[in-house]
Amino acid sequence: MKYIKTFSADTEVSQVALGCMRIADFTDSEADRYLSTSIDLGYNYFDHADIYGGGKCEEVFGGALRRNKSLRDKIIIQTKCSIRKGMYDFSKEHIVSSVENSLKRLGVEKIDVLLLHRPDLLMEPEEVAEAFDKLEKDGKVDFFGVSNHSAMQIELLKTAVKQELKINQMQLSITNATMLSSGANVNLDNRDGINKDGYLRDYCRLNGITIQPWSPLQRGFISGYFLENGENAELGKTVNEMAEKYNTTDSGIAIAWLLRLPDKMQPVVGSTNIQRITDIAKASEITMSREDWYKIYLAAGYKLP
Ligand SMILES: NC(=O)c1ccc[n+]([C@@H]2O[C@H](COP(=O)([O-])OP(=O)(O)OC[C@H]3O[C@@H](n4cnc5c(N)ncnc54)[C@H](OP(=O)(O)O)[C@@H]3O)[C@@H](O)[C@H]2O)c1
Repeated sequence: MKYIKTFSADTEVSQVALGCMRIADFTDSEADRYLSTSIDLGYNYFDHADIYGGGKCEEVFGGALRRNKSLRDKIIIQTKCSIRKGMYDFSKEHIVSSVENSLKRLGVEKIDVLLLHRPDLLMEPEEVAEAFDKLEKDGKVDFFGVSNHSAMQIELLKTAVKQELKINQMQLSITNATMLSSGANVNLDNRDGINKDGYLRDYCRLNGITIQPWSPLQRGFISGYFLENGENAELGKTVNEMAEKYNTTDSGIAIAWLLRLPDKMQPVVGSTNIQRITDIAKASEITMSREDWYKIYLAAGYKLP
């Protein structure tokens, strides 16, 4: 496992994080094994949200931490708030109460990193600032960031929020790479050139913000494993060839492909399968060649003009 610095110059975090969106049905022993094995493999960063499993995912994780108290200090806990039924909510009241509920479910005294999950169309940066100040002052949250935010939305928040926003969690994978393809097709009248994020990748690099690719192994919007059903035969063939060449698995190649970007991204892997997270931890050491990175990009159907 490689380590990078993201939200703080004092803290090294595993370059691959584990996402806890799919752990709601873990038994106690499965949860204990997931937590302790991940740490043994070098993962030290766990991503949550108040809504995962309707709160159950934080509860299950919190249970494992209560049973294995010494592990709390070895890990970074990140959680998110703002998504509510039928709305997104950046009100001070909601942000503060969501964090308090997450703390209870996780059974910890503070959240290391809090992300605003999805941009609230009714956002008032001043209100977010008040919420962050209170959470920081009360010692409930150490660092803050965002998720699914465009460059300009981050700039808007920065007009009032005084804490640094060093993380932006965004969907990005081999089969969801418009954030990359738009950069190779600037000003061209084609699908790949459509920029949907305000040139977020460049903005984040320029501003030292770490992008956390979410669902790095999924195609579509969390609609299944990216190679499932063999829909894209050329991509499947290329990824399998690369897996053999680099002595890893196809999911290992998906992560190595993201880590080859010079941006120092931190993919958030949602696998609950111990063998897979073991293979991915090993794959994080791979340095893919430029030629192979582009072979996969082209096999996924993206074009170079
Ligand atoms: N910010 C946001 O808006 C947002 C949105 C969605 C997710 N997230 C975060 O991102 C994390 C990861 O998302 P995700 O769980 O969708 O990501 P993922 O890592 O892309 O996908 C994981 C899923 O793919 C399956 N899978 C992986 N490799 C496979 C293979 N070789 N064959 C068949 N199935 C395979 C896994 O099954 P196994 O468990 O069997 O391995 C699991 O169900 C979440 O946990 C969450 O923390 C954030």
